[in-house]
Parts: sequence; structure tokens; C-alpha cells
Amino acid sequence: MLKPPINRMGGKSKLRKTIINMLPDHVCYVELFFGAGWVYFGKDPAKVEVINDIDKELINLFRMIKYHAPEIKRMLQYEFSDRDIFEEYKNYSLENLTEINRAVRFLYLITQSFGSKCGNYGYGTNAVPKQQIFHTETLNDLKERLKNTYVENLSFEKIIDKYDREYTCFFADPPYFETAGYGNEFGEKEHLLLRDKLSNIEGKFILTINDNLQVREWYKDFNLKEVEVNYSVSRNEKARGKYKELIITNY
Ligand SMILES: C[S@@+](CC[C@H](N)C(=O)[O-])C[C@H]1O[C@@H](n2cnc3c(N)ncnc32)[C@H](O)[C@@H]1O
Repeated sequence: MLKPPINRMGGKSKLRKTIINMLPDHVCYVELFFGAGWVYFGKDPAKVEVINDIDKELINLFRMIKYHAPEIKRMLQYEFSDRDIFEEYKNYSLENLTEINRAVRFLYLITQSFGSKCGNYGYGTNAVPKQQIFHTETLNDLKERLKNTYVENLSFEKIIDKYDREYTCFFADPPYFETAGYGNEFGEKEHLLLRDKLSNIEGKFILTINDNLQVREWYKDFNLKEVEVNYSVSRNEKARGKYKELIITNY
């Protein structure tokens, strides 16, 4: 199983084995909300695979790994953890950067920030800084894995329309309902659109989401499996602990 190059809030590192074991037979595998791609990098490749996320910088990173992995590796060897560099990267104007520079910037911000949120410089008193900005030893494996994959940067509903076939399996891991998101709006309206789209597909879907009464009501016509996950991204120890999630399928 490959490890993704980054952490992403809500990443499915702890649930990926469970999800992979629940995937139905498929010819075309589509991740609608790619993030760090824990499930994609852990599963066996399907004949056709598609990864999609609305975040431009995140998708640019995976594109650059696909096409320019050696150059990214070369540039990363000069990076180390530093608050001023972090602030400088944060304030860069993206239009003045090449796509490779943007990928390195994004990697730097996501790996050196608290909770991988790219906002505040991450530091600690009982952990060393992340010297290894990137797991460069696995870069070639990641590049190989991405070689036969379509990379998309659209909102999920457009991807469902494009790729839905009876042999398609959609994995949907949207932002949690009623919790902090990723910079774009994802509230009740978007969750209902997702539910309506998934309810009308020819293919199969597997969805993971936080356990919530409203969500249970929305998906009451499907199969719901309750799972417990350890959640650790918080400065506040009391906010850490076990959370319930739902895995919902239409098969
Ligand atoms: C919970 S994370 C996915 C985590 C991923 N499964 C992993 O293992 O790392 C949700 C992702 O959805 C993306 N996103 C938010 N709104 C979206 C939309 N309308 N269409 C597609 N992606 C969206 C965010 O950028 C974020 O990366």
C-alpha cells in the first residue's frame, strides 16, 4: 500500500482498509473528493481511474508529480522548516509562479502547517519539525501509480455526469457535514445535491461521512454501516478522541 505524499484534513488513513475491503467489482474507479487520496493509493489499480478535487493547488501538485517528479524532488532538497519561509510562501502571488513552483509551495505549506491546513506555521515542544518535506523515496511509485489515471479539477456533480456507467464505482468522501471546511462552500445545499446525484446513478457508490441524524435521514434508503475512528487534529486534548462515521453504499 502506498502512502500519499501529504496529509489532508479528513484524510482516510485510518479507514482505508475497511473502505477498500468494501469496494464492489468495478472497471472504472472515480474518487470525487480526492484530498490526499488514501484509498486510491492503497487499492489495487482498476482498468480506468479518475481522481478529482475542486482545490486547484492540490490537483496541480498531483499533476506535477505525474509529469515532473524529478524536478520537484530536486527542488525539495533545499527546503527546511522555517517560520519566515512559511510566511513568504503563504504570501506569494500564484500568478508569478510556474506550476512546479506552485506544487513545491503547496507541499511546503501543507506539510509545515498545523493540522495540514496551510494556515499557521506548525511547531511543537515534543516533536521535531518535519525535515522530510516529502517522502521522496516513494515519489517514483506515486508517479507510476498516477500514470494511467485521469486527473480532474471540477466540482463533484460534473464528474458524476461525465463518468457514470453501470461498471463505475464512485468513492465519495465529501467535507464533513456541519464542520469546518476547505475554503469553498459545502453546506446542506451541496450535501443534498450529492445525495440526489448519487441516488440516480447507474453505477455504484461508497460514501463516508460523519455520523449525524440529518445525514442518516438523507440516506435512509441506502445501506449504512457505523464505524469508529480516532480523530487527532486538535490542539485541545479534550477535542481528540473517537468519532463515529458512516459508510454508506447503494449495493
Ligand atoms: C474529506 S477531504 C477528502 C479526503 C481524502 N479522501 C483523503 O483520504 O485524503 C474532502 C475533499 O473535498 C474537496 N472538495 C470540497 N468541495 C468539493 C467539490 N464541490 N467538488 C470536489 N471536491 C471538493 C476538498 O478540497 C477536500 O480535499
